[in-house]
Amino acid sequence: MTEAATHQHGHDHGDTGQHWREPARVRDFVARMDARAQERAPQFELMTQLLGRDADAPLRILDLGAGYGAEATVFLNAFPNASAVLVDGSEEMMRVGAERLARFDRRYRYVAWDFGEGVLPDDLGGPFDAVISSAAIHHLPEPALKRLYRQVREVLAPGGAFLNLDLVAPLDEFLEARYRDIMQGEETVRDDPPPSPEVRRHHSHLEPLDRHLAWLREAGFEHVDCFWKRLAGALFGGYRPDTP
Ligand SMILES: C[S@@+](CC[C@H](N)C(=O)[O-])C[C@H]1O[C@@H](n2cnc3c(N)ncnc32)[C@H](O)[C@@H]1O
Repeated sequence: MTEAATHQHGHDHGDTGQHWREPARVRDFVARMDARAQERAPQFELMTQLLGRDADAPLRILDLGAGYGAEATVFLNAFPNASAVLVDGSEEMMRVGAERLARFDRRYRYVAWDFGEGVLPDDLGGPFDAVISSAAIHHLPEPALKRLYRQVREVLAPGGAFLNLDLVAPLDEFLEARYRDIMQGEETVRDDPPPSPEVRRHHSHLEPLDRHLAWLREAGFEHVDCFWKRLAGALFGGYRPDTP
């Protein structure tokens, strides 16, 4: 389904995600991610396994900052009876996503929404068995991120999982330099264009993994953990308790 319910949130969100509205940047991102599809696949696959659900389960998935639908596609393939709601603020990302997800027809729906303040729309159609996110919420300021974690817990069904594959801050300057050197070396091998000033600014506000894990516990998640990590990239999350 390509119909998008458009919502406006009446506040200024600073630059949280605004640069994704530029079509050229979206095209560039999609091309780079296509080139890295094999590298990203194992983490997306691990996210599906962490749900611990049978392949035929009729799961409801919510993808925050879904972009063109990379991780939602993996979930819709892994769970053929699942459906997904994809939230994103970039019309261009959703346009590309609608083309890529066309084969899933009525199993997916985009919702246009800016979650820069950590607020989710009321009409998402939950509760969800899983809330997933990839490379989309690391730039939110602390109060917004904490609010978003609480909101995610609210839209999850009991036992549902929140899994976020995202960037976290290196713990000190030594590690930051090591990670940066390695990542820049890999970008050179891949012939990636240098990151834009907006991307650099976002990535200078990353939070360390431990703080994310603490905020998730504070928000009421259990079995909170980091399930995978490489340099500044981490897959972390938790589960909504079975009992309220
Ligand atoms: C780096 S892309 C990741 C896309 C996809 N999750 C992936 O891994 O391929 C970040 C996405 O998050 C969305 N995004 C970032 N900030 C946002 C915000 N405040 N509200 C809504 N969407 C946002 C962008 O529009 C973009 O599609």
